[in-house]
Amino acid sequence: MRVDKMIGNTGLDTRKNIKRNAKKGALVINGEVVKDSSVKVDPFVDEVFYMGHFVEYIDNLYLILNKPAGVLSATQDRDKTVIDLLDDFYLNYKLSIAGRLDKDTTGLILLSTDGKFIHKITSPNSQITKTYEVKTRDKIEENLIEEFKKGVYIKEDDYTTRPAELIIKGDKEAIVKVTEGKYHLVKRLFSNLGNEVVSLKRIAIGDLDLDPYLDEGDYRELTEKELALFK
Ligand code: URA
Repeated sequence: MRVDKMIGNTGLDTRKNIKRNAKKGALVINGEVVKDSSVKVDPFVDEVFYMGHFVEYIDNLYLILNKPAGVLSATQDRDKTVIDLLDDFYLNYKLSIAGRLDKDTTGLILLSTDGKFIHKITSPNSQITKTYEVKTRDKIEENLIEEFKKGVYIKEDDYTTRPAELIIKGDKEAIVKVTEGKYHLVKRLFSNLGNEVVSLKRIAIGDLDLDPYLDEGDYRELTEKELALFK
């Protein structure tokens, strides 16, 4: 593969900068300064250093994280973000978030360097189901099951939601499955029907469940098998 792609995949720098910096001698392949960033390397054999950093080959990075409350699902902010939960090693990668959660929402977040993967999960067209565990202020009435299924009119946005599934688990507890990623969607479904969400946790995206062994704030790379769920 081209060496600028190999470096670019890690998020260390943009291809444009790599080209410029290589001309200035920032690229070292197998101990030799190489000024042309378009040369091809075998990432499993050749040893590449860029700006003094060893470049570890990575095709793309996919992380599953259990977001605690109080942390923002953003990549940059003055307040604490999910990126601040990661080890320094991962800060070299240009990670994006596949479907944000509110600051007070907990649970499954996916982060990746793979733009196509992020798009697949977040695009309204792909209609991937997001599953939430919900606790509410008031008793959840049975008639809400039908209301969710029909789609709920959201006054503030003059918008009717796509059909959603409501599975009542207790007086004030339910599972909600939605296929769109609108801002505050689950909270709005309930508030527009006269109830209020007091606790929200995302427990699945598509067929990928939140790993019960991941404590809040913990993360790991997705396995090949998990990744295949989105293929
Ligand atoms: N719906 C919400 O209201 N909040 C979230 O964080 C996710 C879905």
